[in-house]
Amino acid sequence: MCGIVAYVGPKDAAPILLEGLQRLEYRGYDSAGLAVVNAKSLKTRKVKGRVADLAAAVPAKFKGTIGIGHTRWATHGAPSDVNAHPHIDQEQRIAVVHNGIIENADELRRRLEGEGVKFESETDSEVLSQLIGRMVKETESLREAVLRALKSVVGTYGIAVIDEQRPGEIVVARNGSPIVLGLGEKEMFAASDVAALIRYTRQVVHLEDGELAVIKADGFNTFTSDARETAKEPFTVDWDAGHYDNGGYEHYLLKEISEQPDTVARTLRGRIDDRFHIAHLGGLNMDARETRSFRRVKIIGCGSAYYSGQMGAQLIEELARIPADAEPASEFRYRSPVVEPDTLYVAISQSGETYDTLAAVQELKRKGGRVLGIVNTVGSAIARETDGGIYLHAGPEVSVASTKAFISTAVAFALLALHLGRVRDLSPADGRRICEGLRRLPEQIKEILTLEDRIKELAKKYADAPGMMFVGRVRGYPVAREGAQKLKEISYVHAEAYPASELKHGPLALISPELPTVAIVPDDELLDKNLTTLGEIRARHGRILMVGHRTSEAADDCIVVPKNQVELDPILLTIPLQLFAYHAAVALDRDVDRPRNLAKSVTVE
Ligand code: F6R
Repeated sequence: MCGIVAYVGPKDAAPILLEGLQRLEYRGYDSAGLAVVNAKSLKTRKVKGRVADLAAAVPAKFKGTIGIGHTRWATHGAPSDVNAHPHIDQEQRIAVVHNGIIENADELRRRLEGEGVKFESETDSEVLSQLIGRMVKETESLREAVLRALKSVVGTYGIAVIDEQRPGEIVVARNGSPIVLGLGEKEMFAASDVAALIRYTRQVVHLEDGELAVIKADGFNTFTSDARETAKEPFTVDWDAGHYDNGGYEHYLLKEISEQPDTVARTLRGRIDDRFHIAHLGGLNMDARETRSFRRVKIIGCGSAYYSGQMGAQLIEELARIPADAEPASEFRYRSPVVEPDTLYVAISQSGETYDTLAAVQELKRKGGRVLGIVNTVGSAIARETDGGIYLHAGPEVSVASTKAFISTAVAFALLALHLGRVRDLSPADGRRICEGLRRLPEQIKEILTLEDRIKELAKKYADAPGMMFVGRVRGYPVAREGAQKLKEISYVHAEAYPASELKHGPLALISPELPTVAIVPDDELLDKNLTTLGEIRARHGRILMVGHRTSEAADDCIVVPKNQVELDPILLTIPLQLFAYHAAVALDRDVDRPRNLAKSVTVE
């Protein structure tokens, strides 16, 4: 998705902005641009392509101690130099970078064109620069001009605005698209993502929806869209620049897969109580009585977050015996859901900024729902909107495809299920069994990672298939869905996940030597049924890669992972599928960390 970075202070802005934009590259983009002000003169550079192309296009004389930068992910108008941000007003005085979508852009554009304004680009964002440009002439105050302009805007935005006549201040505003301020020593930053600031400061302030800020080298002030001042306390981000490096790995994705023994240990740290065999989850903000009162759990999230929610629902039903299900947040928010007082809602998001999930949380809150968040990014919008929750502590996830956040979310659900179970009917003996199982996960993940060479070979063997089927039963089904998701998004090989039990109700027709199947076959009470399914596939000459706890003659190839408790096995069974997708994508020479058409955090509808 689009990225914003802004700087005001004593230093040369362009290198800082370029560095910040590089840190945002992981979010996905197609063009990039910068604007700086020097001696009351506005300069811009914009290019279709990479931040490196922009850096090459910035001349040595591109000086200025205040500036804004942007990486664009096209929504209105194709990727091009002209459509890239910053957008400038007709008088060439105001520069604006914008994330989000202006819904009434056509109407505003028509109105402005009727008043003689000439537009350069096809973007919705240019209406902002043109509007602010007109207002600033009337008010001679950038803050006032932005406030007034935003009154006529319908849609979502995170913006940063500079005025060549006021080279000491930047105005930023947030409505649905994140903006975070970074506090430095006699310098200030703003960005759409902490990643852009982390090299310069760890002191940050998140803006709320409907909030604006004026930032200057010596500080900032925040206020609402009706001009009421707000008070904000900075907080310290516990990630540092090192978390954003690839650590010597060829790809961030491989780094993040390999980190999982540590990230799972961090998700678990301090949360398992071996005396009472319970989970300590202080962030839930619920006492035992309240925790007992829920009769249903509804989990929402998008994409892989939703699949981890399916895993979570299964864990909660099994361990706590509370009916639980997961639904894509993107669907949930549009179907006017019935919100019940005795349902516990759980929103999942690695970034904490996914717009569909955030909108679903806001809808739930409007209707009085009790919502917990399982979120990786501390202080993010979803973390702030929810009544409590569990932070993953997995560290920043840079590669577009989610791996370590997926696994940590599943682990967080196991803790939540243990917690819900132990205030209900889960026995101390079962509680102990789960606690022991959770403690073993990091070591077992390490063991699975040692299978990488073998998985790489298998990935090469299967990568040239035109498509793949992924099947799993009950606990294995979310594993299959996540395995298919990883493969399709990074290798572009079509992959479809099906419950193994449903195969004979339709998709069996597809089985042939050309369409291999990845079968998730844990050693659980459904083992025999799963082996029967393998037989059915085999009888249709389908090739089978089995992922489970044993080998089987029914499969062509097997990946055997260590066994844990049946309820926790899906977590471990997912890891080889991450490596499989990674090596298939490498074998096919794909852009592993930045797959085509995708963005790291989807902050638009
Ligand atoms: C898949 C993937 C996406 C995200 C989804 C939700 O690998 O990364 O499907 O899981 O866009 O993102 P978050 O968790 O940030 O809300």
